[in-house]
Amino acid sequence: MMPGTTQRDRKLEIFLTAPPGLEAILCDEVREAGFEAPEPTPGGVSIRGGWPEVWRANLCLRGASRVLVRVAEFRAMHPAQLDKRARKVDWAGVLRADVPVRVEASCTRSKIYHAGAAAQRVERAITEELGASVSKGAALRIMVRIEDDLCTISVDSSGELLHRRGHKQFVGKAPLRETLASLFLRQCGYRGKESVLDPMCGSGSFVIEAAEIAAGLCPGRGRSFAFEKLASFNTQAWQQLQTTLPLETDLAFYGSDRDAGAIQGAISNAERAGVAKICNFSQFAISDLQRPEGPPGLVMVNPPYGSRIGNKKLLFGLYGALGKTLHARFSGWRVGLVTSEAGLARATGLPFAPPGPPIPHGGLKIRLWQTGILP
Ligand SMILES: C[S@@+](CC[C@H](N)C(=O)[O-])C[C@H]1O[C@@H](n2cnc3c(N)ncnc32)[C@H](O)[C@@H]1O
Repeated sequence: MMPGTTQRDRKLEIFLTAPPGLEAILCDEVREAGFEAPEPTPGGVSIRGGWPEVWRANLCLRGASRVLVRVAEFRAMHPAQLDKRARKVDWAGVLRADVPVRVEASCTRSKIYHAGAAAQRVERAITEELGASVSKGAALRIMVRIEDDLCTISVDSSGELLHRRGHKQFVGKAPLRETLASLFLRQCGYRGKESVLDPMCGSGSFVIEAAEIAAGLCPGRGRSFAFEKLASFNTQAWQQLQTTLPLETDLAFYGSDRDAGAIQGAISNAERAGVAKICNFSQFAISDLQRPEGPPGLVMVNPPYGSRIGNKKLLFGLYGALGKTLHARFSGWRVGLVTSEAGLARATGLPFAPPGPPIPHGGLKIRLWQTGILP
């Protein structure tokens, strides 16, 4: 560390994890949020910065699934070497002796091949060098990755996955994670400056995310994070970071679904998120969907698909009805549709561009299909 710099200012290697296929979209968000030199890599985006950047990433980024901070990196050709080098890590600079941790390890193409034994070595280094206890149920997680004999040790600064914004109680039948919903919105060019409508809104993920973006609300404003239990944490600096001012918006956001329970759930999710005033949720089927008043915007929809719910033949009819309604009533709007089946997307008859990459979701691969402005 440079003289005069503190542990808090030090440049750390920070890794923001993303669903495979959406790294470039997350990178775009990270760049726009003013983080230094973001680089997309398989599985996420890497940046460098001090601990305040770690806190800000957790608080503000909508698309990242977790924020990992690299603690150490060294070669380890055999267990004794891992043991020795793990003991030299500056554990006191990262962890607190009074906060229990759990250690998870993975080994790939390495002489050390037993992940459980590797985790034990690191656990022992932490307990014996720092005095922190190790327990399987601890909220704070240390991740050890040994790949090609290179050992990387990271701390998970997020804790619970970041799609858990802290205000969603109703999750519905097949919800999209908020992180994924926001990345798809971004992929459709949404930046909080137009209305968004979801005619099969379920728990309201697209509508609430879009409304929060327009209202300038940070996604992590209502939850806690694992970094609050790290040695580097500073309550005052964290509180200052959280005082962002919400934006005024006169945009409206619309969600509908034929399921009454989904609509009730979406309304209470929007209330807890503090965006109920700009969200309109109503119960009706797709065939009754009308174009809202006001300038055109973006229809974002994630209809039922694949093996998860319902029967395929019925689904073709449903997608056909969706396409027909949007064709007839939504001229001037754009459409983003998320589904696992190309045939279902085509059944809408909407003029889609080639779809985005396949994204793993609930055991299936889903893709985003986008139209330009509908004629
Ligand atoms: C995959 S879920 C949407 C999940 C949502 N994106 C979320 O994050 O919670 C599909 C939704 O379509 C709704 N749905 C199915 N058929 C419909 C129809 N004909 N009209 C309106 N909604 C319908 C279901 O009730 C369900 O909530």
